[in-house]
Amino acid sequence: MKKMKKLLAFALALTMAVGMSACGSSSKATEAPAAEGADQNQAASFTTVAEGELHMATNAAFPPYEMVSDDGGFEGIDVEIAEAIAAKLGLELVVDDMDFSSVIVAVQQGKADIAMAGLTVTEERKENVDFTESYATGIQVVIVPEDSDIASIDDLEGKQIGCQEGTTGYIYCSDIPENGGYGEENVTAYTNGANAVQALLTGKVDCVVIDSEPAKQYVAQNEGLKILETEFTVEDYAIGVGKDNPELLDAVNSALKELIDDGSVQKIVDSYINTNE
Ligand code: ARG
Repeated sequence: MKKMKKLLAFALALTMAVGMSACGSSSKATEAPAAEGADQNQAASFTTVAEGELHMATNAAFPPYEMVSDDGGFEGIDVEIAEAIAAKLGLELVVDDMDFSSVIVAVQQGKADIAMAGLTVTEERKENVDFTESYATGIQVVIVPEDSDIASIDDLEGKQIGCQEGTTGYIYCSDIPENGGYGEENVTAYTNGANAVQALLTGKVDCVVIDSEPAKQYVAQNEGLKILETEFTVEDYAIGVGKDNPELLDAVNSALKELIDDGSVQKIVDSYINTNE
């Protein structure tokens, strides 16, 4: 709960910061020239890892934000938003699929331009990348077997928890109890959410803590699982950009803002998430 308050305070601060920067950059956003190839790229004076391309570091095992499509390509909310941003900047989107724990490092090391992976904004991550404004809310939830004796997050003490490695779910759960966690010894990190859910189905862990939208998909795909009603934390998803590339951050942020303001982002979200459930 302590953690929750901290996060809420942080979310508030973030909202204010975003609000402020939004005022400052709104005129720029409207002035941004209609994207047309490399010229615009130069006019906006940002550089990308490869000329004419926008490389998105992600972990495409996180439906409905990013996943591998039937034809072997990539799809999902993040992929489509990134495609729209790239189009506005006159760039071609290239999806670089990797472990989730490598996504921020790839941007830091200049191997990718943006980290976009249902990526939660945290103070620690802000030390490594700059974040755009938020385009979605993430909620950490708890998946349990239908017949579990875990009724709320207050029952998690002493239970074995499964998470995806490097995620906020893992970071919170593995923290010491004084900080609202359950201790590292009670948390197992899996390479992706699907593997964590598999461990739950085979009784290796008692619950899985993961973001709510992937959680809904895993529960829909597997019998005998449910999501607890009490939520663990509420978070903001944003795009991470290298700290040494403020021009690209500006360009991506302006494009994202336009896409939020004209309803494109909502349209993309609606095409993947059925809000009438
Ligand atoms: N929102 C969580 C975090 O930022 C989990 C994101 C996992 N994303 C993924 N594409 N696997 O830590």
